[in-house]
Amino acid sequence: MSIDLGYEEIEASCLIRSFTRFCSMTSEYDLHLQRVADRKRRLRTELEETLGAAGEISLEIGCGHGHWLVDYAAANPDRRCLGIDIVRDRVERARRKQARAGQENLSFLLGEAAEVLDQLPQGIVLAEVFLLFSDPWPKKRHWKNRVFNARFLQDLGRRCFGGARLHFRTDHPGYFAWAEEVVAEQELWKVDSSIPWPLERETVFQARAESYQSMILVKQKLNFS
Ligand SMILES: C[S@@+](CC[C@H](N)C(=O)[O-])C[C@H]1O[C@@H](n2cnc3c(N)ncnc32)[C@H](O)[C@@H]1O
Repeated sequence: MSIDLGYEEIEASCLIRSFTRFCSMTSEYDLHLQRVADRKRRLRTELEETLGAAGEISLEIGCGHGHWLVDYAAANPDRRCLGIDIVRDRVERARRKQARAGQENLSFLLGEAAEVLDQLPQGIVLAEVFLLFSDPWPKKRHWKNRVFNARFLQDLGRRCFGGARLHFRTDHPGYFAWAEEVVAEQELWKVDSSIPWPLERETVFQARAESYQSMILVKQKLNFS
């Protein structure tokens, strides 16, 4: 059966369809916002339960299976160490490693760098941060996904006292050059080449790398410090 619609009916039917699509997009977007808010709330609770309300911590971002941080925490029993990664399976493996080693000054959490920095309890201060063989995102159109960027240095700075250290190591020359440029364009973090690397222990990705470059940055006492 064919239905003949006049111009006004067609226009009305198009409007209804657009409106319905708009409503369903809005409700999908609302759902997305709700999921993000729930995830952040859970992360906040987990961070509070793990770290307590106050204290200094050493943070490894993108800890993978936790090899490096397990050794670092063992070598520094007076430090409270936290490793985060966005891949659940890696965090679970890291937790098993930590449990086998019986280290009480070490925890691993599923969490994304920017969200963790945002949700850290107010009294938690980062004394040192490690970003080891962070994904280099080689294609130019993906550079925006690199963890090390101007915003990251700012966000990190808000959670650190002056003198805090950021350790960055990569086997990707392009990513290292990018990091140098990012550092040169701001005042909050400065490279200090006199500081030795705190623990030479190969990470999984370091073991695969032919060569790598490192930099240690120190947070300057510009803001609250
Ligand atoms: C190339 S792997 C290096 C793992 C380990 N650091 C090593 O050297 O063997 C990068 C790790 O960073 C994690 N990662 C990527 N983006 C992240 C982010 N925004 N926040 C937290 N972890 C992230 C990845 O899931 C991955 O485990």
